[in-house]
Amino acid sequence: MDRLKVDLGARSYEIVIGSGVLKDLGVLLRSLGQASRIMLVTNPTVNDLYGEQLRAGLGVDDKHLILGMIPDGEEYKTMEHALRLIDLAVEHHFDRSSLIITLGGGVIGDLGGFVAAIYQRGIDFVQVPTTLLAMVDSSVGGKVAVNHPRAKNMIGAFHQPRLVLIDTATLKTLSSRDYRSGLAETVKYGIIADRDFFSFLQENAELINRRDETVLQHAIRRSCEIKAAIVEDDERESGVRAILNLGHTFGHAIETCCGYGTYRHGEAVAMGIVLAARLAHRLNLLDTAEKERILALMDALGLNLPIPNLPPQKWLNVMSQDKKVRHGRLRLVLPTAIGQVVIRDDIDPALIEEFLSRPD
Ligand SMILES: NC(=O)c1ccc[n+]([C@@H]2O[C@H](COP(=O)([O-])OP(=O)(O)OC[C@H]3O[C@@H](n4cnc5c(N)ncnc54)[C@H](O)[C@@H]3O)[C@@H](O)[C@H]2O)c1
Ligand SMILES: [Zn+2]
Repeated sequence: MDRLKVDLGARSYEIVIGSGVLKDLGVLLRSLGQASRIMLVTNPTVNDLYGEQLRAGLGVDDKHLILGMIPDGEEYKTMEHALRLIDLAVEHHFDRSSLIITLGGGVIGDLGGFVAAIYQRGIDFVQVPTTLLAMVDSSVGGKVAVNHPRAKNMIGAFHQPRLVLIDTATLKTLSSRDYRSGLAETVKYGIIADRDFFSFLQENAELINRRDETVLQHAIRRSCEIKAAIVEDDERESGVRAILNLGHTFGHAIETCCGYGTYRHGEAVAMGIVLAARLAHRLNLLDTAEKERILALMDALGLNLPIPNLPPQKWLNVMSQDKKVRHGRLRLVLPTAIGQVVIRDDIDPALIEEFLSRPD
């Protein structure tokens, strides 16, 4: 069992990583103190696979544990479903010492975490991520949200979990699309902050594709360390945290333009990373050898995906509506070398539009 601390003063917490650690949740929770009641937020897919194992490890009797079941899919990450969980909490007399446990991917973590953030002005929650994306990204850092019909993650809060428990054995059942989707966020950390980690991913690409647990545990730990360090510096994204958005401005626009659900979040991010590398190269911010290395790793991990043919003007418009826009200026995170990025808000939109018409 590997443990890592996210140091945020009174909001500090541990990330516990290991294979088969679901069964240890009960012991870990008891060290955090006793919860009056627990709501397990999950979906039927994950509940069928891991619900029993988690409940057995919790060792809580049935009257203290209630199930907050949400249908499987991004389209259920809504205010309506958050309110259903709140109804359930009220009905079962949840109070400020009650706890929410989220068991699932980023959708469940974001939704359950959002409910924890707003119920009685905030109660404790614990993240048990079961997708690679949730393990390396969404479960750490305290961003929780639901979607607005017209914009992703538009209703949300910063609310840190009390604990993140990552059981890498759960990755065995993940679909290859969802697995690859999580890899995109992993590569992101190498590009934004750690050249050695990028090399590690490159050297181990084959083992990663085979889901080798030892290699994965290292990749997950390093990803969490990098994310934790960035969040510790800038919990509420007033500065450096924005570098985590590498690939996301292009990517979110692809998700929105193509309709939610067409691409996985990580697939759109993979496309966004490729586009950011190509644009940075076109702007002479990134040299050819570095760009080629980035593209080669994306290829090796099956992340160099065909980019949909979107009208550049529409694409740019949607990018300009992104949450990452500040004072009306489009902000892009662009690599200048592997391990280094810059945030630029001074790139001529006409130039971006021209790039989007021939993004290769
Ligand atoms: N809060 C943040 O900082 C942050 C960061 C990145 C992404 N996100 C959000 O995360 C969401 C995407 O998360 P995701 O990619 O995990 O998608 P997801 O939660 O929809 O999970 C993908 C699919 O995998 C299934 N699944 C989960 N665990 C499984 C397992 N172990 N075995 C088999 N199937 C399993 C799920 O039921 C689902 O069908 C988006 O809503 C995105 O906005 C949030
Ligand atoms: Zn992301």
